[in-house]
Amino acid sequence: KFHNGEFIMDKSEIARFINKKDKNAHKGNFGRVSIVAGSRGFYGAAKIATESAVKTGSGLVTLISDEDVQEKLCTVFTEAMTVNYSEEERVKKLIENSNAIGIGPGMGDNKTTLNILEEILKIVKCPVIIDADGINSLKNNKDILKNSNVETLITPHPAELSRITGFSMEYINENRIDAAKEAARNLKSIVLLKGNRTVITDGYTTYINMTGNSAMANGGMGDCLTGIITSLAGQRMNLFEAAVVGAYLHGYIGDKIAEEKYTVNATDIIEKIPYIMKEFE
Ligand code: APR
Ligand code: MG
Repeated sequence: KFHNGEFIMDKSEIARFINKKDKNAHKGNFGRVSIVAGSRGFYGAAKIATESAVKTGSGLVTLISDEDVQEKLCTVFTEAMTVNYSEEERVKKLIENSNAIGIGPGMGDNKTTLNILEEILKIVKCPVIIDADGINSLKNNKDILKNSNVETLITPHPAELSRITGFSMEYINENRIDAAKEAARNLKSIVLLKGNRTVITDGYTTYINMTGNSAMANGGMGDCLTGIITSLAGQRMNLFEAAVVGAYLHGYIGDKIAEEKYTVNATDIIEKIPYIMKEFE
C-alpha cells in the first residue's frame, strides 16, 4: 500500500512473516540473541527488553550487563541467562555467536556505555539494534555507527533523534519522515523514529506504522520494542523487516490491551506477545 511514497503494512502482510514452527524445529532454529542493558536504578529496562525477546520466541536469550544488574536479575529470570561484563571471554563468545544483539536500554549515557557499544560493533557478525542510551552515547561519536561492518538499527524517540543528529525537536516533530530519512542516510543505519505513527526507514524505503496508541506512552514501552525487534532479527528476519514487523506487533498488542485497560504497561505487552503472535501464524 502506498501513502505518499511511504508504505504501510496491513495485518495480512505481517502474517507472512510469522510462520508455523516446523515440527522438527529445535531452539537453534529460533536464534540466540543477546540483550545488553541496565545499570543501577534501571533494572526494569534490562528485565523488560530481555523478557520481551524471550516471549517473542528466541531460542536462547542472554542478558549481558554489569555485575550489579546481573545479581539483581539472575534470580528473577526463568528462561533467560545472564553474564556480566567482567566475564570477558564468555561475553566475547556470546557476542560472536549471537544472531542479533539489542543494546542500550537503561545503560546510562556515559563513557562505559560508549566503550561497550564500540567493542561490540568491532567483533559482531550479526545485526545490532541500538536503543536509548546506546543512541545517546553515540552523539559525539557517530563514526562508530557509520563505520560499523554490520547492519544497525537505531530506535530513537524524537529527543534521542535530536541528540544524535543535532536536528531541533521542532524540526523533527514537524518533519518526522524527512528527519528520519536524513538521519538514516547520514548515520548509515536504519532508523525507527518512535511515537504516534512510528517511521521506519533506511533513508530510501520508508514504512509508517499505524498501530499503537497513547495508552502505551509510559516508561519501559520502548525497551519492550527493543526486545521484540531483537528477537525477530535473531530469528533471521531481515533487520528492516524485523523493525517493521516488530513495531506493528508491539502496537497491535498495545491496541488490543487498550480496549480493556486505560493504561498499557510493558509488562502487559510481554505477557500477551505469544498469544497475539499465534493469531498471525
Ligand atoms: N501512539 C503510538 N505509540 C506510542 C505513543 C502514541 N501516542 N506513545 C508512545 N508510543 C510507543 C512508541 O512508539 C514507542 O514504541 O511507545 C514506545 C515508547 O518508547 P520510548 O519513548 O523509548 O519510551 P521508554 O521505553 O519509556 O523509554 C524511555 O528513553 O528517553 C529515554 O532515558 C529515557 O529511559 C528513558 C527511555
Ligand atoms: Mg526508550
